[in-house]
Parts: sequence; C-alpha cells; structure tokens
Amino acid sequence: MNDIFDTRNGDLSVIHETGESTGLNGKDRFRLLFERSLEPIIILSGNTIIDCNDAALKVMGASEKTELAGLSVDEISPPLQPDGRKSTEKTRTLSEEALRDGCGTFEWVHRDLTGKEFWVEVFLTVISERAPMVTFGTWRDITERKRSEKELRESYERLRMLSAHIQEVREYERKSVARELHDVLGQMLTTINMDLAWMKKKIPEKEKAVLGKITAVISLVRQAVKTVQKVSSELRPVILEDFGLIPAIEQAAQSFQAQTGITTEVKLDPAVDLDRKRSMALYRIFQEVTTNVIRHAGATKLQVSLERHQDLIALEMRDNGRGVSDKEIEDKSSFGILGMRERALFIGGLFHIRGVPGVGTGVRVEIPYQTNGGRP
Ligand SMILES: Nc1ncnc2c1ncn2[C@@H]1O[C@H](COP(=O)(O)OP(=O)(O)OP(=O)(O)O)[C@@H](O)[C@H]1O
Ligand SMILES: [Mg+2]
Repeated sequence: MNDIFDTRNGDLSVIHETGESTGLNGKDRFRLLFERSLEPIIILSGNTIIDCNDAALKVMGASEKTELAGLSVDEISPPLQPDGRKSTEKTRTLSEEALRDGCGTFEWVHRDLTGKEFWVEVFLTVISERAPMVTFGTWRDITERKRSEKELRESYERLRMLSAHIQEVREYERKSVARELHDVLGQMLTTINMDLAWMKKKIPEKEKAVLGKITAVISLVRQAVKTVQKVSSELRPVILEDFGLIPAIEQAAQSFQAQTGITTEVKLDPAVDLDRKRSMALYRIFQEVTTNVIRHAGATKLQVSLERHQDLIALEMRDNGRGVSDKEIEDKSSFGILGMRERALFIGGLFHIRGVPGVGTGVRVEIPYQTNGGRP
C-alpha cells in the first residue's frame, strides 16, 4: 500500500515540516494523528483507496489494510445511494465539486466487507490536485441518526394517516347521525304535528284551555323540527353535497351573519369547482374559522373570499377582531387550528394563519386545483 507521506505534495510537506517540540518530526506526528484518530480516515488516489487508519478498518469489517488497499469507492458502496442516484455517478460529481472547492461535505452510504450498509457523513479534503487527485476523507457514522430520522418520519406519516382516517370516520358518523335525526326524528315530529292539527280540529271550540294547550304544543313541535333541521344540516351539509362549496359557504355565511350580527362579506369565484373531498375539507375549515370568530375574536366584520389563480385555489377568511397571537397558534392544545392545518395538508394544500393585535386574524388555505383532475 502507498504511504500518504510519499505523495509529493506541497500541502502535506508543510505538515511534515512543522514543529519538532514533541520529539517527533512532522511526518511521524501526522502518522500518529492519522492512525490513532477515532474517526475513520481513508486516503484516496482518484477513486481508489491507498491508505486508511484502524478506525476505518474496523467500520469496514477488515483486519488488514491490504484488504482495503486498491478497492475503489464504488466497491465499498451499494450500487445506488438512497436518493436513487448511481454511486459511481455521484462519486464523480462529488469529486469534481471537491476539486473545485478544495473540500466537500456530504452524506453517503457505504457497504462494508461483510455487505452491511452504514451511513456516514464524509468530510473530504483535497491534498493533491494533480491527477490522480489525492483526497483525505474522514467519516462520521450517522447510521443511528439516519435510523431515528427515518423512524420519526414514519411515525409522523402514520400519525398523519391516522388523523386523516379519524376525520373520515367522523364525517361518516356525522352523516349517519344526521340522516337518523333528519329521517327518523324529523319524520316522527312531522307525524306528531299532523296528529295535533287533526286533534285541534276535532276538539269543540268551547274547550278553550285544551285548544290553547294544543296550539302551544304545535308551536313547540315546529321549533323542534327546525332544531332537528339545523343540527342535521350542520352535521351533514346537504347543500354542500348537492350544490357544491360556493352555495354552501354562501348559505352558511348568511346564517352566520343573521345569528351573530357580524357583517359578513363573501366574494366567491364561480369558476371554482371542486370534488367532494376537497369541498368538504374547505367547508369544515370555514366552519372552524367562523366558530373561532364567534368564540374568540370579538370581531364586527368577517370577509370570506374564494379565488382561483391558474392552478391554485385560495380560500381566505379575515376578521377584524383582536388578532390571534403566535403563542396561541403554536400552543399544543390548539386542536382547532391543528385540525384545519391537517385537513389542508390532507388535500395537498397549505395552511396559513396570522393575527395582528387590534387588526384581526387571517386564515388562508391554498390548494392545487388539479391534484387528481377536477371533479370526480
Ligand atoms: N379568530 C380569532 N381571533 C382571536 N383569537 C383566536 C381566533 N381563532 C383562534 N384564536 C385563539 O387561538 C386559540 C386556539 O384556537 P383553536 O381553534 O385551536 O382552539 P379553540 O377554539 O380554543 O378550541 P377548539 O378545539 O374547540 O377549536 C383559541 O383558544 C383563541 O385563543
Ligand atoms: Mg376553535
């Protein structure tokens, strides 16, 4: 095996010639540093290993330097790197970059002599630019870090899927409760109403007390019918399913204004035409925003806009209330905000919320128009 110190090169000779105070000459001191380093170090001539230290032997599962000498980087790497690029091509690019900059840092997957793969962060320094280029590479094992990152990513992914699944189950349950309320309870109340009307007709006029009672009960039943309709349409916005997002938001905004006295301006681009899943997600976000405005904002005005900019659809809602703070937005128990963000992500969108004290709160959702084509 070549000795690094035999490579005739200016930079290295500087190290060789420095300080003699330890009793070792520069070359010996450097050799000691190289051999004793706990970090694996390899020296490459071009793409071929010409020297390495004990730490490198250990991580490569080798016992003698001769086992590694002469091997190319490709022979100690899997054919493909995790980003899908060929190791051979990637080494070429990285060597060129190192030659240009004099050094380089990158992450790499190596394969030891037993075939086991491990992640390293490579610090590459060019010590001779003359062809074949001589480089000095140290490896830091990052396998553990990469494994934790992967686990974290996977667990985040699973949580996101779970959250999406829970949302779907919730929608399904809402729908069936709404149907039960509307069809069964609504039907019963209608029958009761009709029977009461029939009884009212049959009772002689002189029975004023009984007739008064029946009239009061009829009015109560009517109120109950209205409540059933209101609750069931909140649970399952039929208008959304039948006519789409725009009429649904228009109607909800009207009743929001009527109930709260908050002036609600709506500007909805009729060119927006979305499939059911995306309409439902945007509608639920709109519902959460209006609930928040009632509960927290102290606003007198709400502006809602739905616009299409080429491939992007943006739903924006601004109130003129106290303005949500960054602390409230980031609070781990702000599940309403978290739910809106998750819903937006679930349909491939982005969610923004921002408050300015005394000016108000703005919520903006942007989704790509054509993720899976337009309407299903
Ligand atoms: N429009 C707004 N104006 C001012 N503050 C707001 C507004 N929207 C939200 N906030 C603040 O942000 C907090 C978090 O909102 P979030 O919707 O996540 O939770 P919540 O409404 O308190 O409870 P829920 O889980 O029922 O939605 C609120 O408690 C409130 O303090
Ligand atoms: Mg809320």
